[in-house]
Amino acid sequence: MQRDGPFKGRSISVVNSLSLDEQRYLYKKARELKTELASGGDAASFRIADPDYSAYLIFLENSTRTRESFRNAAQFHRVRVNMFDTATSSFAKNESITDTIKMLIGYAPESCFVIRSKLEGVCTWLDSYLGPWAERCGHKRPVFLNAGDGKHEHPTQEFLDEFTFLEQLNWNDQSIHLALVGDLYHGRTVHSKADGLKIFKHVKVDLVAPDELSMPPFYVDTMKRNGFEVRVFRTLDEYLASGSVSKLWYFTRLQLERMGESVLEKAPLLKRAVTFRQDMMDKLPEGTRFFHPLPRDRMAPTIPTFLDDTPLNGWDAQSANGYYTRAVEMAMLAGVIGQDFSGKGKEPTHEDDSFIMEAPITKHAKQEYKVGIKPVESGMVIDHIASGQSLQAIWDRIDKVRRVLGLNLRSSHGVYHSNQGPEVYKGIISVPDVSSFGEKNLKKLGAVSPGCTINLIENHQVVKKYRLGMPPRIYNFDEISCKNDNCVSNPKHQESVGTSFERKIDANGNARYVCSWCEREHDYSEIWTL
Ligand code: CP
Repeated sequence: MQRDGPFKGRSISVVNSLSLDEQRYLYKKARELKTELASGGDAASFRIADPDYSAYLIFLENSTRTRESFRNAAQFHRVRVNMFDTATSSFAKNESITDTIKMLIGYAPESCFVIRSKLEGVCTWLDSYLGPWAERCGHKRPVFLNAGDGKHEHPTQEFLDEFTFLEQLNWNDQSIHLALVGDLYHGRTVHSKADGLKIFKHVKVDLVAPDELSMPPFYVDTMKRNGFEVRVFRTLDEYLASGSVSKLWYFTRLQLERMGESVLEKAPLLKRAVTFRQDMMDKLPEGTRFFHPLPRDRMAPTIPTFLDDTPLNGWDAQSANGYYTRAVEMAMLAGVIGQDFSGKGKEPTHEDDSFIMEAPITKHAKQEYKVGIKPVESGMVIDHIASGQSLQAIWDRIDKVRRVLGLNLRSSHGVYHSNQGPEVYKGIISVPDVSSFGEKNLKKLGAVSPGCTINLIENHQVVKKYRLGMPPRIYNFDEISCKNDNCVSNPKHQESVGTSFERKIDANGNARYVCSWCEREHDYSEIWTL
């Protein structure tokens, strides 16, 4: 059977790997599959049914639900199912994950990899590097499914959660009011809600967690930017007294083991703040349902076991839904289904890739270089370095520019008045007898000191002037690294993954650098190792 369609060969690394319409398609198909299997149907039109198609389950961290639902989904598809034994594999001989997967791609005509790892951004990296590599070597492009990467994302959990909410709401996607309760700081499943809930037109989210476990501001900002109404409560008691309580509650496990001594001392108080109690039962709205990504901590469950056999229990059916949604995800990426998709697909990001703008040559520009800095007869002058910042910041930036560009040659520098105002200063570096910095160094200069200008001097005259902005993508320079310790590219993991940042405009209109793998945002000054 010819397998094709808009999802064939794609990967699910993050929730946004699928557009909203594509996510809706996934939920529609999962509903069809669930209905067909419930009525005893064979669901043949969903099956990959190819003995040469290989599904590798690579779990570098513990799992029950994700691993077993994917294993059962792969068996449903009647493909080769490989439960990769990480403990006895050559990972123990320090093999990198890239090398490992490269080998495995060669063992079957077509492969899908389901990966859980503490390395954040690992699936994005593998898809970006090994996808083209496999095609160059004559293999079919492998697909990657992120089964949870550190604190970053758990997209297939998010899709099963949203499927469950839709099912609970009779497939009405007009609005949702959801309470997120528990450890909102560490839980990647609640972080993914900032994007996953966008499938509902109107979203109201109540965040219930003590300060020590509160949702990181990045995700709260994302929710607000996505148009969600967000309310914050510190305890369940405070929430229940608020007068407006959701009927859908999503609990998470407390990951106190990840926190320092000072927080552990407060553990009983923190647990009490987000653990449901018997005396709260009559404060719940009629028809309330509780959900939980599971596992529940058997010592300190935020949803106590006395609720297991009550109508509040939505979590058991929720975890069963993982089988249907994951089977459908595998079918989509293998190209078995998707031909009938008619919505809006994932749009490529159209970033303006210019960062060098020609600037007008002003009269006083020439005068400027005569004040306290040796006039350049011919060469380059880097002007407006850290313009308007404190004197200390300007000197620091001059130092950084010199080190990043390796300016160990005849030149001079200083801090000067800017013509922007009496107390406004800027840095200048003049480099005589140099007519070009080269494209690589221009990129570095734009990224280390956006807003600076480059003046090309000939016969004491400024003949060309350029203003530099932040380059849209900066990658594979030795002097940059992602500052997220858990990022797959962080040098401490020795995975030989090149550093790569993409420019993104944040909620306040400021340009930031986002790691292409783990999506950690950085100020431009943070990306440097020098
Ligand atoms: N919800 C979830 O990811 O469970 P497992 O850790 O058991 O896979």
